[in-house]
Amino acid sequence: MVVARQLREYIRVERPGHDGAILRPAAMGSTGPVGASWDAEYRRGRYAGEPPIAWVGTILSMLQAEPALWGGRGLYVGCGNGRNYLPLVDAGATLDGIDLSKEAITQLVRRRPDVADRLWVGDFRTQPPTGRFAYLVAIQVFQHGDGATLSAAFAQAAVLLQPGGLLFVRVNSVATQIYHRHTVVERDRLGGLTIRYDDGPKAGLLIHFASREDLLARAGAVFEIVREPQEVVMQRQAPKTGTWAQWQAVWRRRAPVVDQPAVSTDIAG
Ligand SMILES: C[S@@+](CC[C@H](N)C(=O)[O-])C[C@H]1O[C@@H](n2cnc3c(N)ncnc32)[C@H](O)[C@@H]1O
Repeated sequence: MVVARQLREYIRVERPGHDGAILRPAAMGSTGPVGASWDAEYRRGRYAGEPPIAWVGTILSMLQAEPALWGGRGLYVGCGNGRNYLPLVDAGATLDGIDLSKEAITQLVRRRPDVADRLWVGDFRTQPPTGRFAYLVAIQVFQHGDGATLSAAFAQAAVLLQPGGLLFVRVNSVATQIYHRHTVVERDRLGGLTIRYDDGPKAGLLIHFASREDLLARAGAVFEIVREPQEVVMQRQAPKTGTWAQWQAVWRRRAPVVDQPAVSTDIAG
């Protein structure tokens, strides 16, 4: 079968990256405990058949308003199995996708073999600095880890983006009523906190919940805010209870002449 052959080849074959580096799409399998945990979630059917989140419409209209960026190449960090990635591609975006979970990428390639050569399995934090992407989309991905991980994610976004490029971020807000049993392992002085889940699908993993100030500080001076963080609060579907909240914000990468360290070092409380 054609799809099965393409998938096999995709998993086996090395391909050149945009900067000439060799990327090995799925040869190494999923990356670390976060990738393994997401593998299990996608096998359980996570996001299957789900429509895109409404914010994808905002991303599209902002990009289409800037032809120089819209005509460039973007990167979707943590593209998962495609609920938000595919609508962007189908609207005309030239968009690569990277995800820690081999299962996510495998499902996405099975569903849409035509995008296979734009996708790879890996940790975006270890991708070589290209400085060439016109925009980055990161929906519910920067929150995987502690506060320092969030700062490092912004720093890596800065080295992957071209000056003037846009960064679209949606992350957990500290206003979330956390559902599963957990332990708070870190509180920063700007109101953000990190937990370790003791129960549920992410048991054992660290997840950060940002306050508005925490988020803005961790983005660092290398980024200029274009759309202030907007908090979206959603009711969990029964039988779960409570609400979960996400920040949605857009930054522009400043030109190198004003570059300063992207990682804020004085937040820990
Ligand atoms: C909450 S899911 C969201 C998936 C997708 N953005 C969506 O909205 O449908 C988070 C995804 O980010 C991926 N991820 C987490 N950390 C990552 C990293 N450092 N590099 C690449 N992918 C990552 C996970 O494997 C998972 O697929």
